[in-house]
Amino acid sequence: MLLHLDSQTANVVTFFRAIAALNPSNQLLVDPYAQQFLPKYLKLALLSLRRSTISHQFFENIKLGGGVLIRARYAEECLKERVLSGTKQYIILGAGWDSFAFRCPSELEELEIFELDFPATQQKKIKRLKTLGIAVPNNVHFVPIDFESEQIHVALSQTSFDPNLDTFVTWQGVTYYLTEETIEQVLLSLSDLCSGRLDIVIDYIEQKYIKQWWRYQHFRWIYLAVAFIGERFVSGFDPNTFSDWLSERKFTLKEDHNYRTIADRLGSENMGHFRLSVRTHLAHIQKFEEDI
Ligand SMILES: C[S@@+](CC[C@H](N)C(=O)[O-])C[C@H]1O[C@@H](n2cnc3c(N)ncnc32)[C@H](O)[C@@H]1O
Repeated sequence: MLLHLDSQTANVVTFFRAIAALNPSNQLLVDPYAQQFLPKYLKLALLSLRRSTISHQFFENIKLGGGVLIRARYAEECLKERVLSGTKQYIILGAGWDSFAFRCPSELEELEIFELDFPATQQKKIKRLKTLGIAVPNNVHFVPIDFESEQIHVALSQTSFDPNLDTFVTWQGVTYYLTEETIEQVLLSLSDLCSGRLDIVIDYIEQKYIKQWWRYQHFRWIYLAVAFIGERFVSGFDPNTFSDWLSERKFTLKEDHNYRTIADRLGSENMGHFRLSVRTHLAHIQKFEEDI
């Protein structure tokens, strides 16, 4: 991330959620806040799309958009399951314009939600919520952090986060922008801090695409576009060795599938024209039980 600047990829992600919210055939993730959260230039772009079905479908065809819907829906499904078993805390790493805290279903209202994000992105969000008159519920806590230079346990120790309670974490659309060392540090820091059960839903791009991005026709444009806005893809994982990589850090891989497989399971027929990539994976990981 460029110092002092809020995340532009977070805006792009919200743009896709706003497009999805306009499409009645998308039932996978309906985000009523996405449109309001957009910066002016993307609101204008959305307005022009509303008048043109062709360009609307063009954006739905970009696989990035489908991934944005599927990863949030998957994480929220896993979260609901964990809450039924007693999880009371939810950490959203690199939350961006995630609106879960504001559209939280009633059965999850007792969750304590911690949104951790790069300070400039988070400040923008807090300011825009205020401008829009959207009240921040008491159970929502904003925690600024730069994963590259700050420790997660230090940031959380300054909040009401209770390390003894079971915790659910999502980390979506973020790992690709961080070094492997930083990803490792965040996982180890969370694992050291949390003495209760720790579940994390994380997404990652297959390493081969990051290492040889120029070889893949569609991916190279996405790679260049994010690099252009200052948020370059830097790391990915090999699905064949990810489980071992996690085990060495005392995490178990409970589930790992590419976006398209997860979407088929959750009902890809309910997501309009949105297409999905097989390049990006969603994994549900857990801290080793013997370490709890
Ligand atoms: C593509 S957005 C994803 C937002 C959200 N998770 C979602 O799926 O809608 C990337 C997010 O990662 C955050 N991020 C990137 N690098 C970061 C860092 N070094 N420290 C903290 N947050 C970071 C950005 O601020 C942004 O909110």
